Amino acid sequence: MTERGNFGTKIGVVLATAGSAVGLGNIWRFPYMTGQDGGAAFILVYAVCILLLGIPGMVAEFVVGRHGASNAVRAYYKMGGRWWSAIGYMGTVTSMIILGFYAVIAGWCLQYLVASFMGNLHGDTNYVATYFKTFSSDPWQPLLWTIVFIVITHLVVIRGVRKGIEKFSNALMPILFVLLLVIVVASCLLPNAGKGVEFLFKPDFSRMSQSVLLDALGQAFFSLSLGTSCLCTYASYFSRQTNLLETAGQIACVDTLIAILAGLMIFPAAFSVGIRPDSGPSLIFITLPNVFQQAFSPSLGYVVAILFYALLALAALTSTISMHEIGTSFFYEELHISRRRGAIIETVVCCAIGVLCSLSCGAVDISLFGKSFLDCCDFLTSNILLPLGSFFTCILVGWVVPRRVVKEEMSNWGTLRVSVYAVWLFIIRFISPACILLVFLHQMGFV
Ligand code: TRP
Repeated sequence: MTERGNFGTKIGVVLATAGSAVGLGNIWRFPYMTGQDGGAAFILVYAVCILLLGIPGMVAEFVVGRHGASNAVRAYYKMGGRWWSAIGYMGTVTSMIILGFYAVIAGWCLQYLVASFMGNLHGDTNYVATYFKTFSSDPWQPLLWTIVFIVITHLVVIRGVRKGIEKFSNALMPILFVLLLVIVVASCLLPNAGKGVEFLFKPDFSRMSQSVLLDALGQAFFSLSLGTSCLCTYASYFSRQTNLLETAGQIACVDTLIAILAGLMIFPAAFSVGIRPDSGPSLIFITLPNVFQQAFSPSLGYVVAILFYALLALAALTSTISMHEIGTSFFYEELHISRRRGAIIETVVCCAIGVLCSLSCGAVDISLFGKSFLDCCDFLTSNILLPLGSFFTCILVGWVVPRRVVKEEMSNWGTLRVSVYAVWLFIIRFISPACILLVFLHQMGFV
């Protein structure tokens, strides 16, 4: 049996798992989805998804992971037998695809960090838009940054669970929070910032678009790192004293708080200078540099831009670490090789996917179903594979596993009183699967 690492402290558990949850999903994806899908109304649907499907789903994944105390494939195998290990395989593959396209966006952040440091992002609206187009459709530069990002992730992961993942998360998460607060304050103090705050908190249901439900569901899963065995893998490093329900609640709170703060950082500034926030994925790369320049004095704008892209890169790093760990733990435990070798296999595969995603942004025409390869990977994973992964995890924990095992995990072998156990069980047996199914049927036009 391979010697397994584990998290050393309670705060380490929370920060590492929150580090996985908080990432580009909160600071890049959440604001642009909110902007596209109509503001406060989207946030409302999103919050319901987090409460009703997110937290219970997280606990279900934690139960599988801590019980299995191994990589995701084996953990699902131990829980449900041979067929159920398919969920672990699906999660492992999904996380590789996500890491591939995620590293491309994270790479853009690195490029923007350097560019804002050098003062290269300075210019009028057209200049910034052209800068983004030229840069992202260049074959080499974004590709190099993508690989750099995956390699940095690799270097952290090979240091192991305690010295790598836990130590980095403990250091990076507080820095991230402080940076975010600084920019939020700067943004909310701008003239006319109130309109942005209103957009975020005052629902206007007429602006809700058709795909709001599926988008909110996908975003909730993506943001909590749910449905790819990521939480299952981290839970395998939890101790027997970790309170699963409490941990899930804390992480959902931190994650939602950071997403809302990201909204408060972007929308007041955007509205203050009269820029519409519905430009989609390029929101933080085209809209924001303009906002920073117009909203702040030149020297403050310079500092804020650097802080912002540094913040993004850090947030992305704690998340890519968690995705990388899923495959790494699978390869080294199942192929009986060293952790280092396992990590190398994962890195090579993800770099290959990352290269395709990066090239598909303009340099080479790689598209499927009318979307670029990167958009396809994003849609396929977030809106389809993640909800499916969570759906089957709920079925497994709710219907297949002996009730005694589930109860023992939830109550830490009878040492905790879990008053909401019955409610949670009801949700994962009936409500979660039904909701996910409904959203799928709705999307396919059946309901
Ligand atoms: N939750 C992270 C974010 O918000 C991304 C992430 C990390 C993720 N690990 C994951 C998404 C596993 C899905 C699955 O940016």
